[in-house]
Amino acid sequence: MKKKAEVLKDGTRVIVRNLHPDDLDSLMKFYRSIPDKDRIYLKVDVTKRKVVKQRIGLIETGRIFRIVAEHEGDIVADGALELTLEEWGKNQGEPRVIVATDFQRKGLGMIVMRELYFTAIKNNVEKIVAKIMKPQIAAQNICRKLGFQQEAIMHDYVRDQAGKPQDFVIMTCDIKKLWDELEYFYSDYDWQRCR
Ligand SMILES: CC(C)(COP(=O)(O)OP(=O)(O)OC[C@H]1O[C@@H](n2cnc3c(N)ncnc32)[C@H](O)[C@@H]1OP(=O)(O)O)[C@@H](O)C(=O)NCCC(=O)NCCS
Repeated sequence: MKKKAEVLKDGTRVIVRNLHPDDLDSLMKFYRSIPDKDRIYLKVDVTKRKVVKQRIGLIETGRIFRIVAEHEGDIVADGALELTLEEWGKNQGEPRVIVATDFQRKGLGMIVMRELYFTAIKNNVEKIVAKIMKPQIAAQNICRKLGFQQEAIMHDYVRDQAGKPQDFVIMTCDIKKLWDELEYFYSDYDWQRCR
């Protein structure tokens, strides 16, 4: 994606751009600032530099797209769209978004989701599949707001970073429906130029 300047609901300005391999230090700083109550439910342990470095390396596969939002040189949000290598899931993309605590509830999660949507379109994704642990209420709400529907809930299917079993929620959204919701949400914003 091209670097974009965005304005949050409270007037804060951020830059949204692709993640680069040399962002590792900034990304670690961002991840270490995430409170345990949020971090514990993430897919991988983002406090481990080796794990984060390995995942940045996956960008080269062309199946994982990573973007970040920056404010005054610091990363304040991280977004990913993962495309499966499995033949039968070729039409699917899995989004992941993390926003720094001080930047939450300002529309940044929606901005990152919008960019992941554009990436999905470019890569012929037809269905967005969000995989969330049940305690991730904000993530379920942002998905609901975007028109996702809960498809399944699997009892004690995954373990959080503390090793505790958690219910696993699968929410999906047809790409066309997601566009309708994003267009509605951003109708008040001066962002039409981005399309
Ligand atoms: C989920 C997350 C990315 C949302 O980011 P955000 O920038 O706060 O989201 P937005 O400000 O764009 O909010 C969009 C909508 O999400 C929902 N939402 C966001 N934060 C919420 C919260 N704390 N509680 C309930 N709903 C919430 C609301 O519906 C909100 O719309 P509203 O503000 O008009 O009510 C953020 O809470 C986060 O990083 N959580 C921790 C990491 C995580 O769980 N990521 C998901 C893994 S896929």
